[in-house]
Amino acid sequence: MEEIIIDANISKEKRYESLWPQISSLIDGEKNLIANMANIAAALHQTFGWWWIGFYLVDKETNDLVLGPFQGPIACTRIAKGKGVCGIAWKQAQTIIVPDVDTFPGHIACSTASKSEIVLPLILAGEVLAVLDVDSEHLNYFDETDSKWLQKVVDLLTKNQPWKL
Ligand code: SME
Repeated sequence: MEEIIIDANISKEKRYESLWPQISSLIDGEKNLIANMANIAAALHQTFGWWWIGFYLVDKETNDLVLGPFQGPIACTRIAKGKGVCGIAWKQAQTIIVPDVDTFPGHIACSTASKSEIVLPLILAGEVLAVLDVDSEHLNYFDETDSKWLQKVVDLLTKNQPWKL
């Protein structure tokens, strides 16, 4: 595969639908988790033009999140468990949609341009191994459609076992 081809004039649901087989084939047969995260971040960023999209990986030695593959401006390198939207999504092992980051207690502003956010945990055998974080410069940008399709994306990564680092 050389490029992601998505019609920009179709609905969000249709864009995810059209991107889905391309993402699946992008990581098919590749077991390296970082490589797959990197290409998934690029494919989603190219399709939706979000401000920032990327992964934070659980660092078991330091018990915090460390920055992984991403697309967008530079970001915070480490996030403590229970801190920020990412750290809370990790601690609670749940997806969090934040329509307005300014009203979310403890939100970590890696960039002041970010206005809304969605974070999904990657759960393997009951354990969170990473989170997927997407930021928008628009308020109220993420909804159940994003949550549903991004869940399929993170499931694809955790099911693509055994992966290697
Ligand atoms: N806003 C996130 C931090 C990560 S950056 O936005 C890339 C948070 O509150 O966890």
